Amino acid sequence: MTKIQLTDGVYWVGVVDWNLRDFHGYTTPRGGTYNAYLIIDEKIALVDTVKHTFAGEMIDRIKEIIDPSIIDYIVSNHVEADHSGSLPEILKIATNARVICTEKGKEGLFRYYRGDWNFRTVKTGDELSLGKKTLFFITAPMLHWPDSMFTYLKEDQILLSNDAFGQHLASSFRFDEDVCSLIGLMSMSKKEGDLKVHQRYECDTIMDEAAKYYANILMPFGGIIFKKIEELKTLGIEMKMIAPSHGMIWKNPEKIIGAYLAWSGGTSKQKVLVIYDTMWNSTEIMAGEIVRGIVDSGVEVSLFHLRKTEWSEIVKEVLEARAILIGTPTLNNSMFPTVGGFLTYLLGLKPKNKLWATFGSYGWAGGGVKGVNEKLSSSGYEPVDSLEVNFRPDEADMAKCYALGQKIASLVKTNVTA
Ligand code: FEO
Repeated sequence: MTKIQLTDGVYWVGVVDWNLRDFHGYTTPRGGTYNAYLIIDEKIALVDTVKHTFAGEMIDRIKEIIDPSIIDYIVSNHVEADHSGSLPEILKIATNARVICTEKGKEGLFRYYRGDWNFRTVKTGDELSLGKKTLFFITAPMLHWPDSMFTYLKEDQILLSNDAFGQHLASSFRFDEDVCSLIGLMSMSKKEGDLKVHQRYECDTIMDEAAKYYANILMPFGGIIFKKIEELKTLGIEMKMIAPSHGMIWKNPEKIIGAYLAWSGGTSKQKVLVIYDTMWNSTEIMAGEIVRGIVDSGVEVSLFHLRKTEWSEIVKEVLEARAILIGTPTLNNSMFPTVGGFLTYLLGLKPKNKLWATFGSYGWAGGGVKGVNEKLSSSGYEPVDSLEVNFRPDEADMAKCYALGQKIASLVKTNVTA
């Protein structure tokens, strides 16, 4: 196995989960990784482990560097099983290792594994000297669970951030700057008049996955993230690298920090999402006409059918959209089940600074759009407009749909959000 080094004495000993396609509910078409890090000094520390099914692979990787039985400390930044799952296995080998975690981490690990382990609990500002290298701990509750923390390698200026700044992306590369798509650009040489192909790398893939990860996992904690980044500055944490426990290691931390500041601050662009389901196409016809009104107003819009688009992909789009329109038919005096399920998922992620509107159709009795409005309202979101059509939209109804699209586009242009 090739040893993967971040810097002198700091190794990646994680695993790549090429076949990961679903991570507790959201799709991961590009797979994922569980990153663990081994720090070699006078004392040896392992920071985080991997999902339990990959314990053997992680241990083999450690064995390429040292005898795992001499590990002194295992830092558990987060209890969730994708990071702590191999703790029981490694502790069977590293029998003298002390487990370093937060107080809540200790509580969670004990409840999960019932292990009689040698714990040391830490909080923000606590340090652990390994010799020349020092581990500095920063609690990070809700990023992603109450137990979470970051571990900072002081001398190397590497932040081991666990879930924060992660992405689900399987690759044979480990660093952000390597995971880019090669695109060929044709250009004409002015001097010689020759057509030449220039190679250029684009890094959209990694940022796309980082955005999806943030939207589906960390969006509810935007306020906490914003303050945590401020706290890192206050603590004087300089970062040459951010090494999360999922995906690529950021050799260019400013890129992902900037994105997190924008996302957590609720920054949005002039974009509208029209999200709907339909029974006999009436709601779909309405959606199409609303989209036409938005497009004709010169505003970007995306249309998503809830049974034809994977929900976590839609949520990624929600992150930077300024307005969201939800469309539903009425079924059994209620909103369509997919709309109800999607709203439960989306509203649980607490999107902020969005403008909302609703629309839909009904046959003999209404209730669908009313249900959506009530669900939004109970989560603290008030739609700026709502449109219902009986059976099939006629000419007058279509004009109302078009006007709704134009109204939303106009509000989006003036940056009105709710
Ligand atoms: Fe990657 Fe919250 O676990």
